[in-house]
Amino acid sequence: MLAVGSSLWLDRQIGPAPSGTWLARLDVVSRIQSASRSIPVDLNEWQGWRCRPKKAKSMISSLQELVSPLAEADFLDLLRARSFTFRRGSRTDRFQTLLSWNMLRDIIEGGVFPAEKLRVTSKTEDIPPIFYLENGKVNAGNLAKLLRQGASLIAVPLDPYIPALNVLCSDIRTRTAENIKAGAIATTGDGGALKYHFDSHDLIIIQLEGNKHWKIYGPPVANLFKKDETLRPQGSLIFDDLMRPGDFLFLPAGHCHHCDNGPDLSLHLGIFFEPPTGYDTVRALLPQLIEEEIFRAPLTRLGDAANRTALEAAIKSRLLEKIGQMLSSEQGSAGVKTKSP
Ligand SMILES: [Fe+2]
Repeated sequence: MLAVGSSLWLDRQIGPAPSGTWLARLDVVSRIQSASRSIPVDLNEWQGWRCRPKKAKSMISSLQELVSPLAEADFLDLLRARSFTFRRGSRTDRFQTLLSWNMLRDIIEGGVFPAEKLRVTSKTEDIPPIFYLENGKVNAGNLAKLLRQGASLIAVPLDPYIPALNVLCSDIRTRTAENIKAGAIATTGDGGALKYHFDSHDLIIIQLEGNKHWKIYGPPVANLFKKDETLRPQGSLIFDDLMRPGDFLFLPAGHCHHCDNGPDLSLHLGIFFEPPTGYDTVRALLPQLIEEEIFRAPLTRLGDAANRTALEAAIKSRLLEKIGQMLSSEQGSAGVKTKSP
């Protein structure tokens, strides 16, 4: 039984040529289309015919496939060293199976992507949701109007709502033990979607449609978690170029950057790498500590100095033990959610 809309490519082998290639090959495309039912197909009726599935665009479902032709181990070295990397793509359709502008619009306008997670900007300034939401849902007409006027869409996280991204992020999560998510920025006018800024997470950026002009400065800031809303370009310009469909960029955390796409539609996808830090580990411990009596004891009611000294020693010892357990456990670190201070 073939499902409605499925396709068959049928090859008939009438004898191999000496070279091993097909002597003759007959391609028959049987596109079965029925609006209301599946059509039974008895493959036994086609003696001598070989059925092969329709050749699909190469899917990108793993870290290795995403960073190819770089080896995964080499990319993980770049990730550890936080080394800025740009690679010009050899094929403009290389990442097409992951996301397209039509897919993004469909899940936003169809309510699959949560409206409250959508951010719309114009020339780096946020547009209040009242201009594109109605009763908590996206008003497709109003959103389309904003897009015609050059607005930008920022949709994060996307992986829970796009199966291909979900599979990819899941693989990267397994390979790195880090918090991984995907997000996209679509721009339809000049000025850029976001102000000049740096991110506290590492990013793989892939350009999907249109172009985007990136300006990236280095070295990275010293404290990734100290945000500065009035940030201005600092350091040296280390990248000043156009990203085109198929291009790949690894942008380590802390590099100040800004991008602009001119008047045309541009869509890029970001894969966010958020490694748990010592801060995250300690923060994750807090709810566990309150379950233990020594952390609930009132410090001002301990009586003499000996009691205070004993409690202080107990707290220090237990803290060291708990932190040690978490840091030494790969699973423990992987489970720690990241959160900027
Ligand atoms: Fe950014």
